[in-house]
Amino acid sequence: MKRFCLYSFCLFFFILLGEYTNAQNASQGKVMIVPEPVMQKVNAGVFKLTSDVKIVIPANNKEVNTTAKLFAEQIAVPTGFYLKSVTTAGKSEKSINLVLNKVSDNAIGAEGYALSVKPSGITIRANKPAGIFNGIQTLLQLLPSDIVSKGKVSTTAWNIPCVEVTDYPRFGWRGLMLDVSRHFFSKEFVKKYIDQMAQYKFNVFHWHLSDNNGWRIEIKKYPKLTEVGAWRVPRTGVYGSYEGPREGEKATDGGFYTQEDIKEVVKYAQDRNITILPELDMPGHSMALAAAYPAVSCTQQQSTVYPGGGPCGDNVLCVGNEDNFTMIDDILTEVAALFPGKYIHIGGDEVDKGFWKACPKCQKRMKDEGLKNEEELQSYFITRLEKIVESKGKELIGWDEILEGGLAPGALVMSWRGVDGGIAAAKKGHYVVMSPTQYCYLDYMQADHTVERIGGGFLSISQVYKFEPVPDGVDPKFILGGQGNVWTEFIPNDRRVEYMTWPRAFALSETLWSPKEKRNWDNFVPRMEAQMKRYEKAKVNYAPSVYDPTIVPIKDKDGNMQLTFATEIKGLDVYYTFDCTFPDDFAAKYQQKPIDIPKGASEIWAITYRNGKPVGRLMIIGIGELKQRL
Ligand code: ACM
Ligand code: ZN
Repeated sequence: MKRFCLYSFCLFFFILLGEYTNAQNASQGKVMIVPEPVMQKVNAGVFKLTSDVKIVIPANNKEVNTTAKLFAEQIAVPTGFYLKSVTTAGKSEKSINLVLNKVSDNAIGAEGYALSVKPSGITIRANKPAGIFNGIQTLLQLLPSDIVSKGKVSTTAWNIPCVEVTDYPRFGWRGLMLDVSRHFFSKEFVKKYIDQMAQYKFNVFHWHLSDNNGWRIEIKKYPKLTEVGAWRVPRTGVYGSYEGPREGEKATDGGFYTQEDIKEVVKYAQDRNITILPELDMPGHSMALAAAYPAVSCTQQQSTVYPGGGPCGDNVLCVGNEDNFTMIDDILTEVAALFPGKYIHIGGDEVDKGFWKACPKCQKRMKDEGLKNEEELQSYFITRLEKIVESKGKELIGWDEILEGGLAPGALVMSWRGVDGGIAAAKKGHYVVMSPTQYCYLDYMQADHTVERIGGGFLSISQVYKFEPVPDGVDPKFILGGQGNVWTEFIPNDRRVEYMTWPRAFALSETLWSPKEKRNWDNFVPRMEAQMKRYEKAKVNYAPSVYDPTIVPIKDKDGNMQLTFATEIKGLDVYYTFDCTFPDDFAAKYQQKPIDIPKGASEIWAITYRNGKPVGRLMIIGIGELKQRL
């Protein structure tokens, strides 16, 4: 309790860089855009956005019309302007022109755009509506940050700096995955998340709709999937330490999306250049399915939806049970009809093959099919699923475990246990999305666990920024792109999803969109901070971990522990105490030399300052714990 109050106190004093506008930055020849565009030139002058500006759209193009409407709606509240869309503007009228190229500009592809801002007008040209949408996202970032404020702001001059931008993505797959099984997130929150993704030019929302802990999509033919599978007993606390269901306890925690909800979200995403990839995780991670229909598993045990923690129980679909393939076919028929994208993700990860070893039906299947081991049984299962997926006019994606026992012929691999699975798949001529834990697992903590408290591992934003989706020696044409994964075992609410996603997904967006040679951490930091400032105005949560000091214990020549500090960004001063008092800039300042630990000290307290203001959070770490890290 004591510490909780101190953290809050610290957050209260958390102060970032002062206000900025891109028009002011432009006077120094730079603008703050994430992800960094391919080419940009800042010119003198501004375009003054006023209420009489018209948005000029092509006649008869629904998608560009929608983009124009969304832009007008987005800026209406803060500016008080309700910009009209027209197909031709009057001669003297100032306009924002959204132009589809008559002759395709091959350099910018389907999602690229050219944006020109002059005092007299703005033009976004693109080959396809997706490019116009992306150009609008850049334009929004050029507007003063009040543009994202909730509530009307009337005092700001809505000046847009004059720029010439030519921009297009490095990869066609720029994804974020949200796990809505471990914790359920409402349709409204999912839409908000999609809005955030679109602003940073992500274009795939991978929706992890089923797992051991909840089945989240209505399937009309199998109503128990959501009547039973979407609900579990309520638990508060830390995943992994939850008590199992008590005798007679009601399962009241959870939720699911109706098919109407799904259609609404799919359309919402489409309007924002985002394709939704649905995932139903099979044959492991299937406890919610097995709780609803116990006959699907090897043991056919009656069980409840798994609340998390403790043994995972019977998590495997029986491959020997032919009815399961009929059921999966039925389920995928409904799923395929709801999602217009090319792919369906069937999971395939972390299967406990022990159940198959002990199951007479699975063993019979292996014998009948001449399968040598359970890995080949997994491959048999995935290959049959691939046929089902293809019969619905879709293609199959699975986690990299689907390589075990032989990869199904047309499968796309999502490489998560490092990049090796992706490399192996690409070498066999399969398409790959890279999502390795070391760079892309946004459920991992991003600051010391004494501050962040819970998370699956550790992944700092500067590490995310180092993500390179194309490993050496791999033909880049097989690497479609990359993806950040937000698993939610340790993420119980909306605000925490945002906190874990941002700012790391700013870094990820740049690794997936911007040219490799433009990647530069020091150049990225102020642009990231500009986005953080906008998120404060937009009331989107984000992690301030990049300002936290990291305490690194080392050994002196006699083997005694000394302490050093590291910071992810330059220009931070670290102040510390050993007497359990709050450090401010009158406390001892770290001088970039190892510090001795005073006798009797039980904790170190540390904080960062920049330009005389506290910016990081208070770190309190026990000396005993630091010794264990040595
Ligand atoms: C995974 O993280 N099990 C794909
Ligand atoms: Zn079985």
